Amino acid sequence: MFKTIFKKFSNSTNKKNLDSSLFAHKNYEDKLFNSIVGYSDIKKFLMRCIISKEQVHILFTGPPATSKTVFLLEMSRELSNSYFIDSTATSGIGIVDFLFSNPNTKFLLIDEIDKLTKKDQTVLYNLMETGILNEMKAERTKGFRQQKMNIKIFATCNELTKLTQPLKSRFMKLELPEYTWEEFLTISNNLIKSRYKYLDERVSTRIAEVVWNDINTKDIRDVLQIARLTRNLEDIEDIAYTLMKYKPK
Ligand SMILES: Nc1ncnc2c1ncn2[C@@H]1O[C@H](COP(=O)(O)OP(=O)(O)OP(=O)(O)O)[C@@H](O)[C@H]1O
Ligand SMILES: [Mg+2]
Repeated sequence: MFKTIFKKFSNSTNKKNLDSSLFAHKNYEDKLFNSIVGYSDIKKFLMRCIISKEQVHILFTGPPATSKTVFLLEMSRELSNSYFIDSTATSGIGIVDFLFSNPNTKFLLIDEIDKLTKKDQTVLYNLMETGILNEMKAERTKGFRQQKMNIKIFATCNELTKLTQPLKSRFMKLELPEYTWEEFLTISNNLIKSRYKYLDERVSTRIAEVVWNDINTKDIRDVLQIARLTRNLEDIEDIAYTLMKYKPK
């Protein structure tokens, strides 16, 4: 559905910037990011960036399991002309080759950008600043390639110190904070309810409590892993006992 809607947006040439009436009528951001609980302000902000005709680039940082990657995956699922890159994957087509072969790419979604090689980070400098993609001469015997692109980059980063300073400064940065207990509980209950329908709220609340207070990792991924093994309240105590006893120091 959104693939069509956004195709329409990107094809309309007479809209200079984002159409604010769009926001008034429909909460597209809630639909676009419907698997993500909370962050209504960030969803709205991202929608603004997505619709804008200007070149903007966004970088997410923050603790593990705060849905940084899910933001990119939702965009990749719903937006036309988007390309998701898992920077930890060692093989596969390089960014530059991909972009030369797909010049209409509008949204480059780079997960864990700090894991990109320095060379790939450098290629992004000019692209982000001027929209011009250059390929350095030395890389190819065929010579110099250059193309103008209208592209926005949305990226996640785990270790900000691993990003080069020029690359960092080309992004608007959003640091997602650690969840509060109330947020953690709401997210846990929502995710368990939608993924494991046979578990009721007493069970999901107990799982959240155990992960927050006893196992003390405060990690939503642990909540989901325990939920997968759970059928009732007793299962949780049993699983938690073992996880606590053998918890890595
Ligand atoms: N606010 C949230 N709404 C929905 N799911 C969430 C939320 N926060 C975390 N999760 C869930 O937590 C898991 C981890 O999310 P994700 O992979 O996006 O984390 P991350 O921030 O990229 O972490 P890392 O830094 O380790 O890569 C996913 O299953 C995701 O659905
Ligand atoms: Mg991630």
